[in-house]
Amino acid sequence: MSDETNGRFSGKVAVVTGGASGIGEATVRRLVSEGARVMIADLQGEAAETLAADLGASTDALQLDVTDLAAVEAMMAATVEKFGRLDIVFNNAGISSMGRVDELDVESWHRVIDVDLNAVFYGCRAAIPHLRANGGGAIVNTASISGLFGDWGLPAYNAAKAGVMNLTRTLAADHARDNIRVNAVCPGGIETSMTDALVRSHRAQEQYKRLVPMARMGLATEIASAVAFLASDDASYITGHGLVVDGGVTAMTGQPNFSALSERWWD
Ligand SMILES: NC(=O)c1ccc[n+]([C@@H]2O[C@H](COP(=O)([O-])OP(=O)(O)OC[C@H]3O[C@@H](n4cnc5c(N)ncnc54)[C@H](O)[C@@H]3O)[C@@H](O)[C@H]2O)c1
Repeated sequence: MSDETNGRFSGKVAVVTGGASGIGEATVRRLVSEGARVMIADLQGEAAETLAADLGASTDALQLDVTDLAAVEAMMAATVEKFGRLDIVFNNAGISSMGRVDELDVESWHRVIDVDLNAVFYGCRAAIPHLRANGGGAIVNTASISGLFGDWGLPAYNAAKAGVMNLTRTLAADHARDNIRVNAVCPGGIETSMTDALVRSHRAQEQYKRLVPMARMGLATEIASAVAFLASDDASYITGHGLVVDGGVTAMTGQPNFSALSERWWD
């Protein structure tokens, strides 16, 4: 990280849900390194506390299920109580569930929609009064390239993330005059505990090499820098945007790699 970005969040207070692991943890570390004080909220309370202990007094940790609106409201209030204000909210906690529509059990569908979509609504709903009271702020929601297009066998996740994207646009319009910017980050395949099986699978890695123009999965830190940008004043005229960070996957149509075909295939 260059010195130029140090202190970009001095005096700012952030909440990061799903902050104990992966993209959330990397973002907590990034925000703190640039001067923010951060509430780390996660279902994994112990991991959140370990991270807060590692980062010191500019952080605090709360065990939280983001699907519990009352708990989310209490967490936002506790953040303001502890740090005196709220400027940035990263609604990032998420899960996924594999299975085509004719295979997926109804409980899994509801759980994914609850954690990945409803909880983003809860997080925004609970945060907006505090942000408004503060004169404004920035919300970043974790969508996905899976919210922009379909994947094989991920119907609940695709639907939830598409919902996050369009919810983000509506929130951006509704709260622009409250001086609250609302954006989303749309990661491609990123190495975290969510994708652990893919990271460890030789076959999956071969496919990423073939299908991703940059020929690799991304790193959580590469999403954290995009989130930090959207949350910062560097993005002061950006709202309602879904920032794709995917090594070029969605730049492609999905057609065969014509230039790599050795024979004159068009003859
Ligand atoms: N890893 C990827 O390839 C990828 C790609 C696109 C989008 N995403 C999204 O990024 C976000 C972060 O995922 P990650 O890859 O860092 O995975 P991760 O599993 O490392 O982190 C997810 C975190 O969310 C927490 N969490 C899950 N359910 C929760 C709940 N009900 N309440 C509170 N916390 C809860 C988990 O405890 C965990 O700490 C998710 O929204 C995910 O859908 C991930």
